[in-house]
Amino acid sequence: MYHIGIDLGTSAVKMLLVDEGGVILNAVTEAYPIAFPRPGWSEQRPEDWWNAVLKGIPNLLDGFDRSLVRGIGCGGQMHGLVALDEEDRVIRPAILWNDGRTAEETAWLNTTVGREKLSELTANIAFAGFTAPKLLWMQKNEPEKYARIRRIMLPKDYINYRLTGVHACDYSDASGMLLLDVKNRRWSREMLEICGVKEEWMPQLFESYEVIGSLSAGAAQALGLSEAVLVAAGAGDNAAAAVGTGVVGEGGCNISLGTSGTLFISSRSFGVDPNNALHAFCHADGGWHLMGCMLSAASCNKWFCEDILHTGDYAGEQADITDDMLGRDPVFFLPYLMGERSPINDTDARGCFIGMSMDTARADLVQAVLEGVAFAMRDSLEVARSLGIPVDRSRLCGGGAKSPLWRKIMANVLNLPLDIPQTEEGPGYGAAMLSMVGTGAYESVQACADALCSVRETVSPDPALAERYEERYRKFRRLYPALKPVFADWNGTEV
Ligand code: XUL
Repeated sequence: MYHIGIDLGTSAVKMLLVDEGGVILNAVTEAYPIAFPRPGWSEQRPEDWWNAVLKGIPNLLDGFDRSLVRGIGCGGQMHGLVALDEEDRVIRPAILWNDGRTAEETAWLNTTVGREKLSELTANIAFAGFTAPKLLWMQKNEPEKYARIRRIMLPKDYINYRLTGVHACDYSDASGMLLLDVKNRRWSREMLEICGVKEEWMPQLFESYEVIGSLSAGAAQALGLSEAVLVAAGAGDNAAAAVGTGVVGEGGCNISLGTSGTLFISSRSFGVDPNNALHAFCHADGGWHLMGCMLSAASCNKWFCEDILHTGDYAGEQADITDDMLGRDPVFFLPYLMGERSPINDTDARGCFIGMSMDTARADLVQAVLEGVAFAMRDSLEVARSLGIPVDRSRLCGGGAKSPLWRKIMANVLNLPLDIPQTEEGPGYGAAMLSMVGTGAYESVQACADALCSVRETVSPDPALAERYEERYRKFRRLYPALKPVFADWNGTEV
């Protein structure tokens, strides 16, 4: 039997057709636009996501026996606010995970409601990209639109809703709304009240591997599939990626270099970072995880190559960066192009190149971008280490992980062996696995991961290079604190 794994990303939706032995039979990608209506804002039209799925799935199935499709699972960009009116029409474009417009609402939640209270109710504090501050922003800035809300959903839940007509959400994705009691896996009535949100607007909660329903007649017809096809609840993209790379159960680590950059540590038991620098969320295997999230990771490299250097030849740009240059680039890059979430939680922060001279070459800047992302990821790793969490190796996935040079930089900056999974399609593959578990092909997420996930190669740090990077990282760490008041001043924020 076959399963469709959907990765609803920020630049495109990627769909995979996978058999129950884990073999990827076909993959199709459909892109959609993203709008940045003001600096630091980002929006997408949920209808664009659905149209991309409608176009992509028939192409995915072209030449395959459709009657063998048993289930669909979706992993999606987290935190985005999708609001529907009483006729299920989308009220406004979705406000995405990397949108920083809610600085005021975030500050109100963290100071007036208070970080302690938020952490007690939801295991997390407010970050600008989370869903609850967006609801407060809408109440204040678009009260007429807010008054029309009848249902609230996250991006992948909109796809599941269009597939099945069921208003559902899984615990991993719901964790990022700041409305879930993460420890007890239920909506926090008190948080809903604080945010002026009616409980009847909220989706029904499921474990990621549970089936929420089957295809509606309309969706089945549009996709050319049977109404018997089942849909699993799915997961936030990071939890889905962790499933797809086999990071389930106790103590595994997955690093993703996608549009965002994440450090994901899985656990069988609930735990909170006492400083809330790392998010404490539910995992898609029934457990929990801690996560650091950078807002711009592989997107920094994409921005620099495509928008600034006007080239799509990433490998060509990296070809001039020879081994002896590693750990010796005098230029630093701060990757805060959309502000930053973990661990600095600063919507005012911005990207910078620092340390250039007359002999700085194009390759030095490309290298600085790759290294800056690695140093900022190290910041989250240091938080995990400071909590006594023993991270001694990690899986690595995401578009950025395809670059051998970036893999080497990451392994040496983090001073960690990085395991490259056999299958690099993290979230889409994980979503297909959740569908397999939900439809009974495997008895648990762990059993499915044990059967399907393996490591293709390990990139080990080189002691001499890791030492050079240690020195560079010490210098990198001084830059943001020195610039923080400057960023605040530019944005008229008090420090
Ligand atoms: C996680 C986060 C991002 C998005 C990207 O908290 O905001 O990783 O899920 O798709």
